[in-house]
Amino acid sequence: MTSASPPVGTRTLGRDGLTVSALGLGCMGMSQMYGAADRDESVATLHRALDLGVTFLDTSDVYGDGHNEELVGDAIRGRRGEVQLATKFSLRRNDHGGMDIDGRPENVRACAEASLRRLGVDVIDLYYQHRVDPRVPIEDTVGAMAELVQQGKVRHLGLSEASAASVRRAVAVHPIAALQSEWSLWTRDLEGEVLGVAREHGIGVVPFSPLGRGFLTGAIRGPEDFAEDDWRRTHPRFTGEAFAANLRLVDAVRAMAGERGCTAGQLALAWVLAQGGDVVPIPGTKRRSYLEENVGAVAVELSAEDLRRLGEIAPPGVAQGGRYADSSYAYGDSPERAA
Ligand SMILES: NC(=O)c1ccc[n+]([C@@H]2O[C@H](COP(=O)([O-])OP(=O)(O)OC[C@H]3O[C@@H](n4cnc5c(N)ncnc54)[C@H](OP(=O)(O)O)[C@@H]3O)[C@@H](O)[C@H]2O)c1
Repeated sequence: MTSASPPVGTRTLGRDGLTVSALGLGCMGMSQMYGAADRDESVATLHRALDLGVTFLDTSDVYGDGHNEELVGDAIRGRRGEVQLATKFSLRRNDHGGMDIDGRPENVRACAEASLRRLGVDVIDLYYQHRVDPRVPIEDTVGAMAELVQQGKVRHLGLSEASAASVRRAVAVHPIAALQSEWSLWTRDLEGEVLGVAREHGIGVVPFSPLGRGFLTGAIRGPEDFAEDDWRRTHPRFTGEAFAANLRLVDAVRAMAGERGCTAGQLALAWVLAQGGDVVPIPGTKRRSYLEENVGAVAVELSAEDLRRLGEIAPPGVAQGGRYADSSYAYGDSPERAA
């Protein structure tokens, strides 16, 4: 912690005492999605995060097909005790440019072993099912995840982008500490049914893409700001007329941030942090400069009037364009068990 940085503080996810830094670090972009990454800068960003008290690290076995877990594992070697390590299983890239979802118990076990090996650790603090498998009853998947807890390989369980029904069925098998889902000023879908069910069961909420995949920082002004291989080039919110319409939203966020003496990204993160003490956003970056800016969000306190204004600027449904080109990535359900 430097004298200029605010203390990040901690929050607790779930009812079984998973205490994490109040702001996490999303590591995905260090291996895929948002343009090329520099390995040395990625590792330096991870080390700087720990120095600043951002100790809740988010990865997945699918990020860079294992590359991200190896990178995070290398970076935390010697500092494992400072970290709350979260990773995920169930997604795998297929030969058709899409993803396969596999929630079969045998795959849960194999993926966990592979993640432990790549991360170079003997226990994962939070193990998420990345997407619910539409072919495997969630009870079977979570049952296999629960065995990992019993074996001491995993400390807490999580779900990502699960539907309300999936969450209810999962908690009937084993406590769920965290639900990771997209939540930000321009993506409010979670506030429908799913958030209420999570809170009913004391499940912590981990918003991913809390900066709107970078858009809410105001740094992205047009498609030319993306590298050739940047995934956002084909994203429904970053293309055509949707892009121009969404720029009006971000300009309003920037104007309000200017009045408040913070950056647009800090205002967007402060809004997520203000949604409850059970909410731990994981902004993603592969650069120390962005990380340091994002950490500043914990010092931005929003009044009821600020929140009302932000609610006016960004009401539910404000974003033009879907959050995925393929809606099957959102709020997954699984079949009932055969009788
Ligand atoms: N469960 C899931 O299905 C799921 C889906 C998506 C993401 N995630 C997790 O959530 C994490 C965060 O989500 P995300 O990375 O998609 O989106 P995000 O955090 O909303 O935004 C990340 C983007 O914002 C940029 N950025 C970050 N801080 C900035 C700043 N202060 N100023 C300007 N630009 C800034 C980053 O740039 P640089 O990359 O250049 O640093 C990156 O392009 C991921 O890393 C991943 O761990 C999970």
